[in-house]
Amino acid sequence: MSRKRYEIGVIGCGKIWDIGHWKGLKEMPDEAHVRYVFDTDAGSARKAAEETGAALVESADAMFDDDAVDIVAICTPPFARVDYVKRACAAGKHLMLEKPMARTVDEALAIYRSIREAGVKCFIPFARALGGANRELAKMVRAGAFGEPLAFVHTNLGTPYSWVALDHWMHDQSLSGGPIFDYSIHYMELARACLGEAREVLYGAAATTGRVKSDDQATLLVWYEDGRFGELTKSWSLPPGCGYGHQTTHVVCADAVLVLGKTIEAHTPEGKRELDVGKDAPGGRGESYRNLIAAIEGDAPLHASELEGLRMNEILDAMERSRASGRKEQVVIHQ
Ligand SMILES: NC(=O)c1ccc[n+]([C@@H]2O[C@H](COP(=O)([O-])OP(=O)(O)OC[C@H]3O[C@@H](n4cnc5c(N)ncnc54)[C@H](O)[C@@H]3O)[C@@H](O)[C@H]2O)c1
Repeated sequence: MSRKRYEIGVIGCGKIWDIGHWKGLKEMPDEAHVRYVFDTDAGSARKAAEETGAALVESADAMFDDDAVDIVAICTPPFARVDYVKRACAAGKHLMLEKPMARTVDEALAIYRSIREAGVKCFIPFARALGGANRELAKMVRAGAFGEPLAFVHTNLGTPYSWVALDHWMHDQSLSGGPIFDYSIHYMELARACLGEAREVLYGAAATTGRVKSDDQATLLVWYEDGRFGELTKSWSLPPGCGYGHQTTHVVCADAVLVLGKTIEAHTPEGKRELDVGKDAPGGRGESYRNLIAAIEGDAPLHASELEGLRMNEILDAMERSRASGRKEQVVIHQ
């Protein structure tokens, strides 16, 4: 239990605020309280204010100016983050900052430096940070529990996102970065936790249907340290409404192939077994806020922080250079 009830200001009250953050926060009223909500869309802000009972403000300044606010949750699209983060850091606020951390690596670096200079804590909700089983598995893989980690292969075939219109910002590559940037980033972060630092990438993609303003069939190949390898494929090419979607995630190690799904299986020369990993490790958005609070109160390690956010933007920056050049590109890691 936290030492006090944490006051939260929210910027961006769209889908993920509603179905993720608020869903978690409303289950922990003694630990966290939503004090302010702000959104450039008046309807979204009003809905969030009604649900939470928070004050609806006409500018985010109100939450930066109020000393009582401890945490600012930023759930805007990735192209509308850097200014809010700088102002929140200048006001000494801790951050719950949605992924991808920023639309460009320059913005990600500015965010990273603002956070480090201010000495505030920042949680970034990647799939590993949200899922205790993935977190525990990555630790075991890195520790060599299945032999040397060798490769990470993730494939997701689907329609464009069904919960938003085809002309929503998420389907516009100039705004969202495209399908790898928005979706596969979760598995890129898990891959890094399993395989280490990315060194080079090659991006191959096509806009096959013209339904969205984006590549809709995309594959990113990643070469990691020590010759490890990753492949991430994301498709938005399936016909909207067809009702089909398919996802597979494999971690290949020298002594086992791990199959991640609703359960985690290890296939070895001795046979197949279901791993009892992370079953008790907490996950979900409420747990994200608890982890952030534990980091604020006692320096507990964050499940994913601005460092992981920056590392992902560095890979994505090399991906965008590879998209332009058609060649393999180096991942530039900032210190
Ligand atoms: N971690 C996860 O599992 C997960 C899942 C879904 C979405 N996301 C991420 O969360 C972010 C938001 O996604 P979403 O699905 O909620 O999108 P959304 O479009 O539903 O919501 C974004 C909200 O931000 C508001 N907004 C836009 N510009 C703003 C600005 N300058 N100031 C204040 N408000 C502004 C919009 O009006 C909208 O209400 C994206 O980066 C997305 O990738 C993360």
